[in-house]
Amino acid sequence: MFKSDHALLARPAILPDSTTRSGLPAFVSIDDVLQAYEGDDAIYVLYPKRIAAAARTFLTGFPGKVLYAVKANPHPAVLMTLWTSGVRCFDVASTREVDLVKSILPSAELYFMHPVKSRAAIRHAYAEGVRDFSFDCADELYKLLEETGYARDLNLHVRLALPKGDAVMPLSGKFGASRDEATDLIKAARPHVAMLGLTFHVGSQCLNTTEYGRALAWARTIVNDAGVDIDSIDCGGGFPVAYPGMRPQPMGDYFSAIRSSLADYGFDGIQVLGEPGRALCAQGGSTLARVELRKGSDLYLNDGSYGSLFDAAQCAWKFPVKLHRTTPRQVGKCTPFRFFGPTCDSLDVMEGPFELPDDISEGDWVEICHLGAYGQALASKFNGFQSETTVAVMA
Ligand SMILES: Cc1ncc(COP(=O)(O)O)c(C=O)c1O
Repeated sequence: MFKSDHALLARPAILPDSTTRSGLPAFVSIDDVLQAYEGDDAIYVLYPKRIAAAARTFLTGFPGKVLYAVKANPHPAVLMTLWTSGVRCFDVASTREVDLVKSILPSAELYFMHPVKSRAAIRHAYAEGVRDFSFDCADELYKLLEETGYARDLNLHVRLALPKGDAVMPLSGKFGASRDEATDLIKAARPHVAMLGLTFHVGSQCLNTTEYGRALAWARTIVNDAGVDIDSIDCGGGFPVAYPGMRPQPMGDYFSAIRSSLADYGFDGIQVLGEPGRALCAQGGSTLARVELRKGSDLYLNDGSYGSLFDAAQCAWKFPVKLHRTTPRQVGKCTPFRFFGPTCDSLDVMEGPFELPDDISEGDWVEICHLGAYGQALASKFNGFQSETTVAVMA
């Protein structure tokens, strides 16, 4: 995929250990990537330094244990970068995620926080040392107890359904126990478990810090209803990223809101968990897509909604874009464009508008930024279009 001119590669001396060990080709800049690239597909870029910086923000600011939600981006280099930055706990949702994390980071602590699991997945995870599981109904609780042989060392977390909030991507429609159900589940689980917790998710890309306080107030109501003590509270994910058109408050405001609500609702003194996905890796990844054809203000790219641009297509998110050229020439003024992906499907369109120089043309590359979470992770092989090239850029 790359010309064997290693002068273009970043010198090992400037690479963090995680990047070297992950085996990713590493470059100093996007220009260096493009100068060296000989392939025909889009290129997925990781910026390990940005992922490490996001990890530091959480490890120093979040008032509890930080669990990385692996679904956001399971790339080995992301997992290793987080590990070398100090993240030790991982929220997994499937047997393959369990095996992936264990194979790369054997001493990682895994939390299986998907509320619906197959019996085989429970048995496998327990055999691999997983002790923390979430559930939101009695049938799942008994599945967990049966498949672990009524183990006495389970830490179980009741997933709450939250009253409707205002996250950009609500998650309460599919999972979660209602107030009455949760009250019954707490009472039913308590005698069987080593540790009992509550968990919730305010919805992904939550733009309002007060949502966490509302959820903690709701959790307090349920604990009071049950009249049973809990040992942990898991504030889930939802921590936002500054995509164009969205202006989240600083991350520190989220941490302060959670810290003060934990105290207000009497949860200080118990274990606190959080499961950030998006906020740890979104800004640490981008896609380099080549313009294959221009028709007026429509650009046909070699990546699209079946690649890493699902949210740009289905949710009409306007990701930040930058033009890159292999032969530099003067850049025109910016004008709005729409993107089409490479497949034959008419859903493969990203309306944007994306502002790019008006002289953009076939062969130019567009870097679509902030795709490190739920971008590269969602890419499929539909229609024979897929990128198998991921690189690290040490900027
Ligand atoms: C159980 C659970 N935890 C954590 C996350 C990560 O959420 P986010 O990426 O919004 O931080 C998700 C996302 O779907 C989830 O379902």
